[in-house]
Amino acid sequence: MQTITDIIQLRSLIAGWRAADHPIAFVPTMGNLHDGHMKLVRTAKHRALKVVVSIFVNPTQFGPHEDFDNYPRTEQQDAQKLVTADVDVLFLPSIDIMYPQRNLISIGIHELNQDYCGKSRPGHFEGMATIVCKLFNIVQPDMAFFGEKDFQQLAIIRQMVSDLNFPLLIYGVPTQREDDGLAMSSRNSYLTPQQRAVAPKLYQTLLTIKHHIVKGEPDFDQLTNQASAELNQAGFFTEYLNIANSDTLQPASPGDNTLIILAAAKLGNTRLIDNLTIHLNSA
Ligand code: PAF
Repeated sequence: MQTITDIIQLRSLIAGWRAADHPIAFVPTMGNLHDGHMKLVRTAKHRALKVVVSIFVNPTQFGPHEDFDNYPRTEQQDAQKLVTADVDVLFLPSIDIMYPQRNLISIGIHELNQDYCGKSRPGHFEGMATIVCKLFNIVQPDMAFFGEKDFQQLAIIRQMVSDLNFPLLIYGVPTQREDDGLAMSSRNSYLTPQQRAVAPKLYQTLLTIKHHIVKGEPDFDQLTNQASAELNQAGFFTEYLNIANSDTLQPASPGDNTLIILAAAKLGNTRLIDNLTIHLNSA
C-alpha cells in the first residue's frame, strides 16, 4: 500500500490506473477504522481492481461545540489494517492540503438536511458534502462506498452525485454491529463501561418499533413517543426518533411500503445514531 499525502502525486498515480482501464473504488473515512469501515473496504475490493481509502478528519463538518479536537486519531493502526486488507492507496492529506485558502464556495443542501441530524447539527451536512465533493474530484473514482448507519448522509451524497452529475456509482453498505447489536462507530470509544452496557438499547428500541409496525400498529407518533420516553428513562437523551419514508426521508404516510426508523440519542456527551429499514408488504 502506498500512503500519499499530496494531491498531484495521487492524481498522477490514478491517471496511470485509468489509462490501463482499471476500475477504481473509493472509501472516504475519518479514520479510527473499525470493522464497519473494514466492511466498506472489503466490499470495495470485491467490486474494483484498485481501492483508495482516505482518512481525513474534516473540520468543516463539526460544529463549534462538537468533538473535532477529541475525535480519535489512530493513523498508524489504521494504516496497518489497510495494509492487511490489501488496499492500494491510503490518501492522508493534511488540513492545509484540503483547505489551503479561505474557502468561499461550498455545497448547499435543500430539504434533505432540514430534519434529523441536519436539524441537530447545523452546517454538518454542508461541510460533509463539500469535503466529499472535493475528495471525489481529487480521486475521480468509478464507485464510492458509504455505511448505511449514516443514512441521511448517504441520501445526501446520492442526491449530490445525481444533481451535480458526478460520473460514479454510490454503494451503501449495511451497518456492522457488535454482538449485542450496537452499531459500530468511532464514537463508541467515548462510552464509559456503564454507558456501553446501556448503549445496545438504542438498537433494541428500533427492533421493538419495527415489530409493532410489522404487526400493523398504525399510530407511529404513539410508538415513537413511548420509545423515546423509555430510552430517556434508561439514561439516554433522545435527540430524535422518527419513522420516515426511506426514499424521501419525509415523515411516513399511509401507503408507504419502505420505511426507515431514524434515531439519534446521547449517552452523556456521546451521540449515537442508528436506523432500521422496514419493508412492508404491498398487498
Ligand atoms: O462518514 C464519514 O466518516 C464522513 O462523514 C465522511 C464521509 C468521510 C466525510 O468526511
